[in-house]
Amino acid sequence: MRKEARKVRIAVLASGRGSNFTAIAEAVQQGEVRAEIAFLFSNKADAKALDIAAQKGIPAKVLESGRLSRDEFDKKLLALLQEEGIDLVLLAGFMKIVAGDIVRAFPGRIINIHPSLLPSFKGLSAQKQALEYGAKVSGCTVHFVDEGVDTGPIILQSAVVVFDDDTEESLAGRILRKEHEIYVEAVKLFCEGRLRIEGRKVFIDSSEDL
Ligand code: GRF
Repeated sequence: MRKEARKVRIAVLASGRGSNFTAIAEAVQQGEVRAEIAFLFSNKADAKALDIAAQKGIPAKVLESGRLSRDEFDKKLLALLQEEGIDLVLLAGFMKIVAGDIVRAFPGRIINIHPSLLPSFKGLSAQKQALEYGAKVSGCTVHFVDEGVDTGPIILQSAVVVFDDDTEESLAGRILRKEHEIYVEAVKLFCEGRLRIEGRKVFIDSSEDL
């Protein structure tokens, strides 16, 4: 019989609403994803994600980025992740660029969700960018984080049709439902040890290969 591996210790980093954090926390609590959320981290003391963590009994940590220099913030965040023995860092609406030192300390162990089909519409307001560009299809991407912005190897994507009468809100809402699905699925695959990065590509191993 295969020895049960230790549960993956996750830190979720969020700056705002926290709906992706909620989806992941619920999947973990329901046993759909075999992992442990060590804490929710926010750089904003008023992030709604902090209230969600409290409701769910998940420890929360806050380091207000506005009160620290860039360098101090990055050093403290890196130290926290290392001291807590974090295996996997999930960015869930984390509105700060993760420092190169942190990316290098966690190679292939930081994942982000972005509300467009990368490499289209990187950066802020991706849904608005897609609408203004006149894209007929948009969607979301879960990817590993590298030292660029929204450039790391893609794990999963999901597409949605852009309707003629879409507003930024209606499109964002439709994309968000897909975000919750593919983010949970990607974290599940990571925790099962089924994601393999080769250069720019991510391969998903079949569960039978394990
Ligand atoms: C999502 O649209 C995500 O793709 C982007 O930021 C938003 C966060 O939403 N990176 P939430 O805080 O998870 O509700």
